[in-house]
Amino acid sequence: MEEIKILDAVPEDALGITNVFYKAWLATYPNAEKGITVDDIEDSYKDEFSVEKIKRLKDLIRNMPINKKRFVAKKGDMVVGACTVIRNEKNNHLRTLYILPEYQNKGIGTKLWNKTLEFFDPKKDTIVQVADYTENAINFYKKLGFVDTGKRTPQESGSFKSGATIIDMEMIRKAK
Ligand SMILES: CC(C)(COP(=O)(O)OP(=O)(O)OC[C@H]1O[C@@H](n2cnc3c(N)ncnc32)[C@H](O)[C@@H]1OP(=O)(O)O)[C@@H](O)C(=O)NCCC(=O)NCCS
Repeated sequence: MEEIKILDAVPEDALGITNVFYKAWLATYPNAEKGITVDDIEDSYKDEFSVEKIKRLKDLIRNMPINKKRFVAKKGDMVVGACTVIRNEKNNHLRTLYILPEYQNKGIGTKLWNKTLEFFDPKKDTIVQVADYTENAINFYKKLGFVDTGKRTPQESGSFKSGATIIDMEMIRKAK
């Protein structure tokens, strides 16, 4: 496989990042038991590729606050993975981490994680919210040293068109 590079996101990555989120959401979140449908995901992304939304994301990338970073995994010019991380007063927050479905299980998520470690404060705990039914992601975080805190919250983006909601599990990785 062509070398995967982990880089700071630049405004030109906005479309590629949105594509990674969209494809990963479609492959990850539809769930019959939870009542989350493909149509729900399609609906929640219906405006995300609009000129305005892409411009907004470009502006966000251009004006990142000092305590926040977006990293991308790129194969050539193509964004295949993306993550957003925040250094808070009290903790490090792994905000989002998504890999294009066909690029998962190739070590790219781990590479992005290793990059976030360079940015995070090693003296502080790190938290992540993960959909409570996504076994792969939960196991991925367990392998990185995260444990379930027991806290559950409805995802802040709200309910889908169908009325279903993703429940986030909070996981924590204690500072060494
Ligand atoms: C969860 C997620 C971020 C993990 O990223 P990933 O790139 O798939 O994970 P990695 O490849 O780094 O690690 C996963 C597995 O691949 C293995 N792996 C690592 N390097 C590898 C390589 N070079 N070749 C093959 N497999 C490899 C890892 O060992 C691990 O498997 P194992 O521990 O059972 O052996 C990604 O799968 C994803 O985006 N999932 C869907 C969205 C999601 O739920 N995201 C989390 C939201 S908070």
